[in-house]
Amino acid sequence: MTDVTDLRDAGERLDLEGLRALQLERLRASLRHAYDNVPFYRESFDKAGVRPEDCRSLADLARFPFTAKADLRANYPYGMFAVPQDRIRRLHASSGTTGRPTVVGYTDGDLSLWADMVARSIRAAGGRPGDKVHVAYGYGLFTGGLGAHYGAERLGCTVIPASGGMTARQVQLIQDLKPEIIMVTPSYMLTLLDEFERQGVDPRGTSLRVGIFGAEPWTEQMRREIEERFAIDAVDIYGLSEVIGPGVAQECVETKDGLHVWEDHFFPEIVDPVTGEPLPDGEEGELVFTSLTKEAMPIIRYRTRDLTRLLPGTARVFRRMEKITGRSDDMVILRGVNLFPTQVEEIVLRTPGVAPHFQLRLSREGRMDALTVRAEARPDASPEVRDAAARSIAAAVKDGIGVSVTVEIVEPESLERSVGKIRRIVDLRSK
Ligand code: DLL
Repeated sequence: MTDVTDLRDAGERLDLEGLRALQLERLRASLRHAYDNVPFYRESFDKAGVRPEDCRSLADLARFPFTAKADLRANYPYGMFAVPQDRIRRLHASSGTTGRPTVVGYTDGDLSLWADMVARSIRAAGGRPGDKVHVAYGYGLFTGGLGAHYGAERLGCTVIPASGGMTARQVQLIQDLKPEIIMVTPSYMLTLLDEFERQGVDPRGTSLRVGIFGAEPWTEQMRREIEERFAIDAVDIYGLSEVIGPGVAQECVETKDGLHVWEDHFFPEIVDPVTGEPLPDGEEGELVFTSLTKEAMPIIRYRTRDLTRLLPGTARVFRRMEKITGRSDDMVILRGVNLFPTQVEEIVLRTPGVAPHFQLRLSREGRMDALTVRAEARPDASPEVRDAAARSIAAAVKDGIGVSVTVEIVEPESLERSVGKIRRIVDLRSK
C-alpha cells in the first residue's frame, strides 16, 4: 500500500510551531476583515471593548465576543456578508427547524478553499484520484451534496451525483457504476442497506471500499455495524454551513481515532456551554469555530452547540475532535438526567435481536416527561428475543444513563427511514 502521508498538501505538512504562527497571522487578518466589513462584528467588538489589533496571541481570541445562530438569523439574509454582492458566487442555506433559515455566501476563493478542504478530507478517508465517488448527500441549498461533489472533483475523482432519495435506483447505480467511495449520512446508509437486502444483493460484495459519513451524530457501534454489513472502512466527516459546509474536520482512515480539524483554516475552541468560559483541550464542552481565511462570510467564535472535546493530533499535526456526542439542542433532560440520542444508539446497536433503527418519543405523563425508546426487531427475532431485548435496553439505559424509560420493540420496517439527516427525537409533549 502507498504511504498516505506522501500525499499530504502543504497545510498538512506544517509542523506545530509553523501551524500556530500561521493561525495567528490568519486570525488577526480574519478579525480585521470582519471588523472592517461587517457592521454586526464592528458593533459587537466595540461593545466588548476589543479591537482586531488586541489579538496578539491565539489565547487572546477568548477576549472576543461569540456569534450565535440568533445573530445570523437577525442579520438574515445578507447582513453577515463582508464583500459586495457581485463577488458572491454561491449561496447555501441551512434548513433551520425553527424560525428563519440562515443564508451563507461564498466567493470564488471560498468555493476553492471548500473544494480543497473536502479533497483533503476524501484523501484522508482513503480516497485517491481516479476513484469513483457516489455522492448521496442531498444536492441543493444543503451543503452536503455540492460540497462533497466539488471536493471529489478537486481530488481528481469521478463523481456520481446521486443526491438523496430514489433508494432503489441508488442500489442499482452502485452495482452498475462500481464506485469505490460513498458519501452519505450514516442513517441513509442504513436505508440503502435495507434496499440491498430487499433486492437480494449482498452488500458485502459491492465495489465500495470506503464510506465517508457525516451531517449527523453517529457512534462507534454504528461504525462497526456499517463496516461489518458492507465490508468497507467507515469514517467520519464533520462540518456546518455557517463555517463552510462538510470538510471542517475529517477522520483519517489509518487511525479512525476522531476527526482532525483542518485548523489551518478553521480555528476550534471548546467552551463551557453554560458560562462560555474556554476549556482546556481534553475537556468536553461546546465546539466554537473561527474562520481564518474565509472571505464572503468570516465567522468569529461561532457557537456550534455541538458537544465534543479536542485532543492532540495523531495522523496529522492538527488537533482532533472526538466524535460528536450530540447537539445541546438534542439533549433530553429527563427528571434531571441529561440524555443524548447517541447514548441510546450505543445501547440499541449492541442489543441482540434489534435492528439499528430506533426513535425516541418524548411525552408528558401528568407533570413528568417520559421517554419511550422504540427499536425495530430484526426480522428473525422471536417473541422471546424481542422481550429480552426490551428488558436489556431498559436496564442498560437505567444503569448507564441513570433514568427509567419505556422500551417498545416494534415490527421490522415500521419506523420511518432516513433520506438524509435523521430525526431521532419525536416530541409529543406540546400536543
Ligand atoms: O450537515 C454539513 C455536512 C454535510 C457535514 C455532509 C458532513 C457531511 P449543516 O446542515 O449546517 O451542515 O448542519 C451542521 O450537523 O452543527 C452538527 O450538529 C451536525 N453534524 C455535521 N457533521 C456531523 C458529524 C452539514 N460528523 C450540523 N457528526 C452540525 C455529528 C454532525 N454531527
